[in-house]
Amino acid sequence: MLQPQPRCRKTDILTQQGFEKLQTAISQTDNWNPYTKSCSLEALSEYTGLSTHTLSKVHARKAGVDLRTLLRYFSAFDLTLEPSDYLSPIRHGETTEPSLAAPSDGAQVTESLPPKNGVSWGLAPDVSVFHGRTAELATLQQWVLEHRCRSIALLGMGGIGKTWLATKLAEQVQHEFQSVVWRSLRPIGRSHSPMPFSDFLDDLIRHLAPPSNPTIPEPIGAKMLQLMDTLRQIPCLLVLDSVESILPGHTPQTASRNGSTEQHPADDEMYCELLRHFDYAQCTATGTARQSCVVLTSRVEPKPIQYMSGENLGIRSLSIPGLQLAEIQQMFRTRGSFQCKAAEWTRLVDYYGGNPLILSIVAATIQRLFDGSITEFLRQNTMIFDEIREVLDSQFECLSALEKDVMRVLATQDTPLSFSDLRSRISLSIPTIVLLEALKSLKARSLIERTAAHSCLQPLLRDYAKERFAL
Ligand SMILES: Nc1ncnc2c1ncn2[C@@H]1O[C@H](COP(=O)(O)OP(=O)(O)OP(=O)(O)O)[C@@H](O)[C@H]1O
Ligand SMILES: [Mg+2]
Repeated sequence: MLQPQPRCRKTDILTQQGFEKLQTAISQTDNWNPYTKSCSLEALSEYTGLSTHTLSKVHARKAGVDLRTLLRYFSAFDLTLEPSDYLSPIRHGETTEPSLAAPSDGAQVTESLPPKNGVSWGLAPDVSVFHGRTAELATLQQWVLEHRCRSIALLGMGGIGKTWLATKLAEQVQHEFQSVVWRSLRPIGRSHSPMPFSDFLDDLIRHLAPPSNPTIPEPIGAKMLQLMDTLRQIPCLLVLDSVESILPGHTPQTASRNGSTEQHPADDEMYCELLRHFDYAQCTATGTARQSCVVLTSRVEPKPIQYMSGENLGIRSLSIPGLQLAEIQQMFRTRGSFQCKAAEWTRLVDYYGGNPLILSIVAATIQRLFDGSITEFLRQNTMIFDEIREVLDSQFECLSALEKDVMRVLATQDTPLSFSDLRSRISLSIPTIVLLEALKSLKARSLIERTAAHSCLQPLLRDYAKERFAL
């Protein structure tokens, strides 16, 4: 269903805090006049790509600008725009635009009220020590706040940082919604299935719906309708983490699930049915300025999202890459002191594809066994050890038979393989379109690197696949 593009509303004004953040970043940047150390509007315009007129408006803090302008300005200086950095009169479901008085210095950020119906963070991790992701957060904030996406899927291999990014995003935009609920679909402990679907719906409705409407209907269809109505009527932010856990054929537990005498055998299908409904039509007639948004994280792109997403649609996916070298270095610094040459840092981060989970395992090992010497660790040439193998095993078990076969073929190659070469090495009974789907899906999870014509494996995955397939 095509959604109209959002109209840019020029209503947002920097708070004193936001303004000072920018001023500090500008003064710490070395790009300006070497003699005066000051920067002209023209120089700022060139640096940020914003016109001098727009920059003057942002600095004057009298008239509003659109949120995209503030996001762009902040991201030019690697800053994250927090809700307390700007005032937005269209928050909290107000339909009329209040007068845009300039905030006085030290203005109270009365806008950053907690969501009216509360926040339920469930098992969300503490992301207070968070590195990088400025560009991803800027994009995601824009998708949520400006483009009003109804559903956003964060995709990537295990440990790449999907859960942390979704949580950071939710923290940053929570004030824009009336209810915020964060839930993981990953089974807890030895349980082989997520929460029974009916209990899950009860939980969501209870936390998302206003307290005056606590009655939950019994039949499951009626519960589903109530959830959808709630999402339409109240601006809710719903984060569903580890969605791969409910996708058929993609979880390591599938075999035991199917064979077990489970109480709720149809739950997986019901969860998938719910994903299909995230294409729900938004109702703007209720007068709410903001719409609901569902943010999913998954190691596998859920089929319903794959079919419904698109550039101009309200449903989008973002493939999450590894962290950059500087961000991994920051992460290591929080864990202790490490020694090595610049080229060795690059070798380490490139080898592990910037995967923060794997690199934090590596950091702990280097601290424990090599007294912080990355040089010594690299010299051992034992880049894959048991804890890393465990992370990769759980990822590998989520792959389809064809995806595993693609990994096997690519592992034998030291250089990128063209599609026709790959095609010739995969069983002819596999239709080309199915092979292309498998490549797309592997790329969406950052398991392969792929240009238009060639595919290859990251060094870590190539070594792992060689070991796994005894190549
Ligand atoms: N931006 C970040 N800054 C600092 N550490 C991070 C960041 N992102 C991820 N991490 C670290 O990496 C670990 C794994 O991240 P996260 O749990 O988000 O991965 P994931 O992609 O959700 O993995 P899975 O598919 O297994 O659920 C975190 O526990 C954290 O230690
Ligand atoms: Mg996760």
